[in-house]
Amino acid sequence: MQLVNKARKDFPILKMEIYGKPLVYLDNGATTQKPQCVIDRVCNYYKSENSNIHRGEYYLCEIAGMAYEAAREKIKNYINAKNAYEVIFTSGTTASINLLAHSLGKSIRENDEIIISHMEHHSNIIPWQVLCREKNATLKILEIQEDEEATLEALNELISLRTRLISITCVSNALGTVLPFKKIIDVAHKNNIPVILDAAQAIQHMPMDVQDLDCDFMVFSGHKMYAGTGIGVLYGKAQHLEDLPPYQTGGGMIEQVSFSETKYAKLPYKFEAGTQNIAAAISLGEAVDYLTDIGLENIHEYEKELIQYASEQLNTISGMEQYSENTERAGAISFNIKDIHAYDIAMILDKLGIALRVGTHCAEPLMHHLGIKGTIRASFGLYNTKEDIDHLIKGLKKAISMLQ
Ligand SMILES: Cc1ncc(COP(=O)(O)O)c(C=O)c1O
Repeated sequence: MQLVNKARKDFPILKMEIYGKPLVYLDNGATTQKPQCVIDRVCNYYKSENSNIHRGEYYLCEIAGMAYEAAREKIKNYINAKNAYEVIFTSGTTASINLLAHSLGKSIRENDEIIISHMEHHSNIIPWQVLCREKNATLKILEIQEDEEATLEALNELISLRTRLISITCVSNALGTVLPFKKIIDVAHKNNIPVILDAAQAIQHMPMDVQDLDCDFMVFSGHKMYAGTGIGVLYGKAQHLEDLPPYQTGGGMIEQVSFSETKYAKLPYKFEAGTQNIAAAISLGEAVDYLTDIGLENIHEYEKELIQYASEQLNTISGMEQYSENTERAGAISFNIKDIHAYDIAMILDKLGIALRVGTHCAEPLMHHLGIKGTIRASFGLYNTKEDIDHLIKGLKKAISMLQ
């Protein structure tokens, strides 16, 4: 509770009123709000450091470049990477996965196989779908079951001698389901298959130690972990990144260029072509400091309590159907109310100052699998409270009484 009381003061937007009602922000899965320290860091960068990094010999360049590299070092520590050069800045999770689909994709051959799960965000489906079409390769879908062992058995059955890659989310953005990603990595590695973790919905909710997990790659977005938009990370084991061809080419990613040949820069710059989102990268470093100060274990424990409370309270509503109720959930709860359209509920909740998401959550195949058009999703951040959940429940009851 101490954690949240302090945290709420750090986020200026939480003081806002919407239609005369206090804002109850429950759309953290889409993007989190930003603490004052992150906002200040971006402002200060533009006020007193702005310059293009790694390109000049003057003072501003020097300090901006140092701040950018310091942010990389902070992220390295946050995910416990072995080396800072294994942390590549991208514009977000989508960009990181597209980079991998392009660069890893060069080695994919006809009849090769790539495995993803049925709970993926479109960002971790379409790049692989496109690649498989181009290469005449096969995209195989792992069905995540309530029983972990059953999931792993299904994975063992899917894996063949042609499986080249597994790309899997850690937490379903649509349902909050925590996948057994560590065990999936263990199975994959027993079969010499590299694994990409989509940590977009995990990195802000639980400690993610890449050395302990032994993942080959991990991707995530800054804006979902209290930093600005337009920045994200691709982590890769050094050897993998060394072996991969670059994605985009141009300024900043070269060591030497002539009209006949180019020698690429060493890591991480080989993958950072063109002018980067310097302010956002530095703000991500600030957000990482903020999260580290609070402690990911503390955040994880606190948010687990919130989910448990929300789940119990939602079940007091008649006609409630929660998804993934029997599995571990992180960050989000998804549900429907019998015979009421989710959009109608969201419209009424909005008027009560409650911001949450309805629809397919960029996970249409998952919705097809569940045989539903979409869900109502309440997703939590470290500043949400049980009072926020009480507001939600009260709002839902009001909406139901108006719509029934
Ligand atoms: C699991 C997951 N993967 C990928 C993405 C895409 O992230 P971005 O839009 O920041 O690139 C999201 C965004 O919601 C997500 O939840």
